[in-house]
Amino acid sequence: MKILAIETSCDETGVAVVEGEKISDGFSFRVLKATLLSQAKLHAPYGGVYPNLAKREHQKNLPILFEQIFKATPPRAKESPLDIDAIAVTAGPGLEPALWQGIEFAKKLAQDWHKPLLPANHMEGHLISSLIRHTNKLENVGMSGELRGVQLPVLALLISGGHTEFVLMREWFKYEVIGETLDDAVGEAFDKVARMLGLPYPGGPEISKLAIQSRREKPSGKWSGPTSPTGRLSASGETRGPLLEGFSWRLPRPMIKTDNCDVSFSGLKTAALYALREYTKATPSRAKESPLIKEEKAAFAREFEDAVADVFVAKTRKALIQTGAQTFVIGGGVAANAYLRVTLQKLVADEFPGVEVRLPELSITGDNAIMIAEAALARALAGLDDAAKEEVRAVGNLSIAKVRP
Ligand code: KG4
Ligand code: ZN
Repeated sequence: MKILAIETSCDETGVAVVEGEKISDGFSFRVLKATLLSQAKLHAPYGGVYPNLAKREHQKNLPILFEQIFKATPPRAKESPLDIDAIAVTAGPGLEPALWQGIEFAKKLAQDWHKPLLPANHMEGHLISSLIRHTNKLENVGMSGELRGVQLPVLALLISGGHTEFVLMREWFKYEVIGETLDDAVGEAFDKVARMLGLPYPGGPEISKLAIQSRREKPSGKWSGPTSPTGRLSASGETRGPLLEGFSWRLPRPMIKTDNCDVSFSGLKTAALYALREYTKATPSRAKESPLIKEEKAAFAREFEDAVADVFVAKTRKALIQTGAQTFVIGGGVAANAYLRVTLQKLVADEFPGVEVRLPELSITGDNAIMIAEAALARALAGLDDAAKEEVRAVGNLSIAKVRP
């Protein structure tokens, strides 16, 4: 079975064709075509995604991607190329104006080709594609994967720019949200803190790079100054010298002790803002536009990442105990974070040796259409009939718990 999928929920426009089939104890997938256009650069000046700009870009990009795949502009053809069996499109969650662009495009294709239209849940796309073991990277020809040997229940930690949730799958395709952020998504916190540090959008990868640098350069621990935070500049007394002596950052670990799997990141974000303000005040001679030098940014990025990781370790431990999950999977854009991947893998290896960890292939961790095609294929091959019976609508806050099992 072949599915063409369209993803336009945020700032990536994706079109992909994936083939799937049943194998002895699961499903196999083969990516036939995959294209993706990121708008990140366009949104960078806003420090986040600007919905109407995203919508306009999707409208412009969809025909371009379609042409890349089929070497033809959106078809008048009666026949679908490549014998595509169905069209899947992200219906939510996401930015509604952006989602609508994908939905309108997909509807038209489904009509022209007389194929079923399958509304897809973006978070289910992240979850299912992260459970699949991929054998090749997307950059290599013929990326393929298998979904087999998954022990239920599955606990998923879905972390992205718009979402942060612990999802439990006790039965296939039946989801329960057992914990979530009470305010900001973790990706949003990464992006905002990166902006405070003067790093470009999207900030997650930038913070991660700096934090890695800090851990590499100071493997034994964080930078910590010997004296009090008097504002005295160290050594040479230069305005662009090393970290202020006496200063070391300690950010809060919000809700780490609460007896549930909910998290919160807005307080961490505010604490980061105040800590940076205080530090800047103590270094008045620094240029206003760059109050922190790279080494300091790296130390700060590391403390922020440590705070996030500490929270997720504590909450994942709680969730694994509470649910007795046999498989732990991380999905969503923030699942690309190297430190979180290592730290959570270590937690499971040390404390839950019977639990299998599955991580998404890095090339499809961020938003893309392959994950939408794979989730739609897995559902279809499992016998679920998702063909739209009514008009497909964009639903910005569509919960994964609303997915029909
Ligand atoms: O899933 P995704 O591509 O889009 C949404 O559905 O939101 O996630 C995007 C988010 C952004 O906030 C981005 O900064 C974050 O994922 N991200 C990272 C890393 N790579 C991307 N955050 C932390 N570390 C990374 N390596
Ligand atoms: Zn996403």
